Amino acid sequence: MNVSVSRYFYLRKNWRIVSFKKFYRKLSFISSTDRNPDRLYSLIKKLTEISTDHLTPEIQLRLITSDCYLWHSKVEDCLFSDPYWAFYWPGGQSLARFLLDNSGIIKHQSVLDLGSGCGALAIVSKLLGASHVVANDIDPVAIAAIRMNSALNNVTVNTDNRNLFHEKTLSTNVVLLGDMLYDIGLTVNVARWMKNLPNNTLVLIGDPGRSESHLYLSKMNFKKVVEYELTPTAKMENNGIHSSSVWIWERWRASPFVEKI
Ligand SMILES: C[S@@+](CC[C@H](N)C(=O)[O-])C[C@H]1O[C@@H](n2cnc3c(N)ncnc32)[C@H](O)[C@@H]1O
Repeated sequence: MNVSVSRYFYLRKNWRIVSFKKFYRKLSFISSTDRNPDRLYSLIKKLTEISTDHLTPEIQLRLITSDCYLWHSKVEDCLFSDPYWAFYWPGGQSLARFLLDNSGIIKHQSVLDLGSGCGALAIVSKLLGASHVVANDIDPVAIAAIRMNSALNNVTVNTDNRNLFHEKTLSTNVVLLGDMLYDIGLTVNVARWMKNLPNNTLVLIGDPGRSESHLYLSKMNFKKVVEYELTPTAKMENNGIHSSSVWIWERWRASPFVEKI
């Protein structure tokens, strides 16, 4: 069966079906890039194309688009497991659009983009004058993609490969979560982790409403701020999803920062 890599994301269970041999091939490729990062950079370059076809054309991103051969190839042929970094997810797109339209919010703030993927939110934060920006992702290939995309937009962001859900302390004013509620396990992790955040931390979530996530967001005291219609390409990539919203954490809403919106 020929399926685009992106459509496969919605059938994540099927990723698990790849044979051990193929899984091992992917694993040994990724480990070998630790010794030779340039190999990874040139492969990302080869497999993606530079795109501005999204809600924030102010930034360029290397993505797998329908013009890339991987889009049409078999999922087993992709050397990367779950290459989430190769797509600009609806949640990230809406949140980045919101930040660009309300540029005062993160100016001079220290920002953490948790689950950064292609790095869009971190890049936008840097362009908008955030004082310190960290792009965090547990996928080492995402870290390489973030570095490449940052360079493409003439900014430098700090990268962090740790699973921050295991960290209790955090020194940042603003947390950005783009499309990080795509399954229930992750949503629970986000909710638990947020309990330890200081009261004055601004948490903004971009989310297209998969898996009943709006119900969890309401329970977590988030309020919807704005909803954006997606571009035709994003609608095509995300079967059945037409818009994506930005949610703000109620604890922060009560603070004077809210006047900046
Ligand atoms: C759906 S993608 C969203 C990427 C990006 N924020 C966007 O909106 O385009 C989710 C990303 O979160 C990363 N991720 C998953 N669990 C994570 C964790 N515990 N800590 C950091 N990143 C994580 C994945 O590797 C992936 O890049």
